[in-house]
Amino acid sequence: MKTLGIAPQLRGLSFDGEKGDIVISRKTIDQPELTCTVDTLAEKFTKGTRSVVVEGVGGFLLGEDYDDALNGTSNARKVTGRAGVVNNKVCVVTGGAQGFGEGIVRSLIAEGALVFIADMNVDGAKRLAGELNEQAGRTVAFGVAVNVTDEESVLKMVGEVVDTVGGIDLFVSNAGVLKAGSVKEMSLKDFEFVTDVNYIGFFLCTKHVAPVMEAMNKPTGNYFTDIVTVSSKSALEGSNKNGAYAGSKFGSVGLVQSFAKELVADNTKVNTVCPGNFFDGPLWSDPDRGLFVQYLNTGKVPGAKTVEDVKRFYEAQVPMNRGCDGADVTKAILYSVEQKYETGQAIPVTGGQVMLN
Ligand SMILES: NC(=O)c1ccc[n+]([C@@H]2O[C@H](COP(=O)([O-])OP(=O)(O)OC[C@H]3O[C@@H](n4cnc5c(N)ncnc54)[C@H](O)[C@@H]3O)[C@@H](O)[C@H]2O)c1
Repeated sequence: MKTLGIAPQLRGLSFDGEKGDIVISRKTIDQPELTCTVDTLAEKFTKGTRSVVVEGVGGFLLGEDYDDALNGTSNARKVTGRAGVVNNKVCVVTGGAQGFGEGIVRSLIAEGALVFIADMNVDGAKRLAGELNEQAGRTVAFGVAVNVTDEESVLKMVGEVVDTVGGIDLFVSNAGVLKAGSVKEMSLKDFEFVTDVNYIGFFLCTKHVAPVMEAMNKPTGNYFTDIVTVSSKSALEGSNKNGAYAGSKFGSVGLVQSFAKELVADNTKVNTVCPGNFFDGPLWSDPDRGLFVQYLNTGKVPGAKTVEDVKRFYEAQVPMNRGCDGADVTKAILYSVEQKYETGQAIPVTGGQVMLN
């Protein structure tokens, strides 16, 4: 628990104008460059220090990227400006093992980020992290277990991230579920299941991530961080026979605006991206359980004879004539990170299907 405060402080003390060093927590370290107490850390620490022991707390290894902090082999990309919006930043993506989350993870890594794939499906998260690390030839991803509806689990996940790298620059609250159904028939259990993941899960994650971001900002008062929740076009316009989902997503916009007003004091921006349907993702395209095959079987689309007919019917409702994907969502996330003069906003990414008024 003590490292939960000290490691983010070290990330904040090593802030370079965009981000701090990666900070790996250890029980202790032989021959550290700096030994100090909790009270003297801020005064004694100088940028470029690579190892610190804080008496009574533990040891910390620092570096430009994870491999640099661990063993001095930095292969961090050197880019600045627009190409470096998340370069060497620590990002967490909940529900990152598949679907939109996986697309966001892949796009953030392509932009130079170090990403924690936080998912209930921890095997899937670890498998994806392993694949991405192998592709990159350096440490760019970790898989970590979380159930966003369980406060203990969220706290444990945040602690694991902080112990591994020292802080969180961008938290993407993407894990979400959908259970459609008429208001006349939906069970309370199903309604609560959707609300727990999409609405309460976002609250629990923000509750435990925000103090880490506050600790990172404290040393300079200049360290901007971001919380972005992936809501939906159904956060902007109601959804027929889908009230539990739309209600949870509308509600998350209320949380975004309220959290944004509070956390601006710590330079933490809070925004939401509202994507259109991800037709090529598992929710719609899974051959056995996907919505396309379900709608075909229930005759929801009159005249449709194949899954392709159903898909074309839905694509035709989007002015840009295609579904949304993780790369589309990531562009909006990158905008909200780069933009230092906006917070509390809901950014549509719908191919023109839903327009703000
Ligand atoms: N698919 C779409 O068409 C669409 C459209 C707009 C918005 N969204 C939103 O995008 C987000 C991702 O949706 P998707 O379609 O990619 O979902 P998905 O079902 O393909 O993937 C969701 C991921 O979240 C994980 N997850 C579920 N519950 C969790 C929990 N309690 N704790 C931790 N992880 C959990 C799952 O294991 C899975 O890996 C959701 O918030 C969803 O509401 C989806």
